[in-house]
Amino acid sequence: MTKMRIIVKKNEEEVSEEASNLIINEIKNKEKFVLGLATGETPIKTYAKLVNAYKQGDVDFSNVKAFNLDEYVGLEPSDVDSYSYYLHHNLLDSVNVNEENIHLLNGETIKINQIAKDYDLKLEKNGYTDLQILGIGLNGHIGFNEPNSYYDFGTHVTDLSESTINVNKRLFSEQNKMPTKAITMGIGSILKSKKIVLLATGSKKDEIMDKVIFSNQITPEIPATILKLHKDVTIIMDEEAAKTYLKKAGTERENIN
Ligand code: GLP
Repeated sequence: MTKMRIIVKKNEEEVSEEASNLIINEIKNKEKFVLGLATGETPIKTYAKLVNAYKQGDVDFSNVKAFNLDEYVGLEPSDVDSYSYYLHHNLLDSVNVNEENIHLLNGETIKINQIAKDYDLKLEKNGYTDLQILGIGLNGHIGFNEPNSYYDFGTHVTDLSESTINVNKRLFSEQNKMPTKAITMGIGSILKSKKIVLLATGSKKDEIMDKVIFSNQITPEIPATILKLHKDVTIIMDEEAAKTYLKKAGTERENIN
C-alpha cells in the first residue's frame, strides 16, 4: 500500500486556500490539463478561490478540460439541484474553460446507460484526469460509489443509499424532489487519475476520515479505502475533520495507510 499524504489545516478557509493553490500550480505546469470536479458543500470555497485567482489573472483555464464525478438521475442539466448547474454556477461560468472542453455527466433518464459508456470512452480518450478533486460521504462514498459488496470500475448508474438520501436532501430546493438514483464515475476511472486530492471539513467527517485513514482493510463497504492503492493521494482536512486523526497520529502512526 502507498502512503497518502495528509495535510491538516486550521479551518475550512485554509483547506480551500491549500487546495486551490495546489490546483492552480498543477494547471500552470501543464500544456493540457484534465481536471476532475467534485460537488457537495466541501469544495465550494475552493471553487470560489479558483474563480478569484482567475479574475486576478493568476490562472488561465483555457488549457483545462473539465470532467465531473457524478450526477443525479432524472434531473436536467438546467435544474438548480443538478450537479451540472452547481458546477456552472460555482466555477465553470466564471472562468475561461472552453465550452467544448466541458464534459459533464447528464442525468436525464433516457439513454442513461449509453451516457455511462460514452463517458468512459471520453475519459479514456483524454487519458483520464490529471487531478481529481474528491469529497467524501459520511458513509465513505467517493463520487456516488456507495458502500457495496464489490467495487464498480466503470461509470454506472447506482441506487443511492438511505444514508446518502438522508444526508443530501438538505441541499435540495424541495427535499422530496431528491432522486434515488445517480450516475457516477467508477472507482477504476478515479484510480486512473494521476493525482487525487480529497477534501474533508467539519466534525461530521471526523469518524469517516478516521475509518479511511486507519483501516487496515481495503473494502468496498468503505469505498474511499481503495484510495490506499493510488500512488498520489493528498488528503486536506481541517482540524475538526482531523480530530481523531490528530489524536491517534502520534501513537498509531505505523497503522496509517
Ligand atoms: C455527495 C457527492 C460527493 C460528495 C459528497 C460529500 O453525495 N456525490 O461527490 O463528495 O456527497 O458532500 P459534502 O461535501 O456536501 O459533504
